[in-house]
Amino acid sequence: MSITTELELVKLKIIGKIVADCLREMSRALQPGMSTFELDEIGRAFLEKHGARSAPKAVYKFPGTTCISLNHEVAHGIPSKTKIIQMGDLINIDVSAEKDGFFGDTGGSFIVGEGTLELQKLCAATKRALDTAVKSVRAGLPLNTIGKAVESVAKEEGFTIIRNLGSHGVGKSLHEAPEFIAGYYDPNDKRILEENMVITIEPFLSTGATWVEQDADGWTLKTAKKFFSAQYEHSLVITKDEAIILTA
Ligand code: CO
Ligand code: CO
Repeated sequence: MSITTELELVKLKIIGKIVADCLREMSRALQPGMSTFELDEIGRAFLEKHGARSAPKAVYKFPGTTCISLNHEVAHGIPSKTKIIQMGDLINIDVSAEKDGFFGDTGGSFIVGEGTLELQKLCAATKRALDTAVKSVRAGLPLNTIGKAVESVAKEEGFTIIRNLGSHGVGKSLHEAPEFIAGYYDPNDKRILEENMVITIEPFLSTGATWVEQDADGWTLKTAKKFFSAQYEHSLVITKDEAIILTA
């Protein structure tokens, strides 16, 4: 969407803060021995308390409140009582929700305990890719500024980019125009970042994978078991100056 009134910005900030606080609360509760279902329940209770509805559930009938992806699962992992979180695991939590007709979308990857050096580097690089991309966007620049920024960080840090997952428009729905914003530099993408445009930025970096496949469960997007991938995501508003981060 493109913001046209101050009230729309206020409502986007409200839902942005709810999903960001929900992600923080869930990440703090993370501990070995817990199932991804238990973790999702914390998110469900949080959203309920704040009068928000799970976006993947409302829009796509996703069988969970939040998407929780473990290790070689990259995105859209289904919370499950049989998926037990272990020390050293890499876990991605993606929280998106709607309140009063407006949607917010955020996500982050977390290592349970200290984890391996490789996982620490992957998470740091992916975070830096998000920060670099967020700082690079301005109204009037090409949309592929995002992919260019992510790709430069991925190259510097020696990680691959998952090419079939991207950023997207958000606001009046969970996924809307501009659709699929590549996480790599696409010179053929001629779209322009416009003032007041609401989008997510969500780089997916990996220790070697470039593609995710859908699991037999019909939801989970995963890579071969030997790879790990991380994602960090903000919803933001494009301005002539630095973007307004809705999910800080
Ligand atoms: Co998300
Ligand atoms: Co998203």
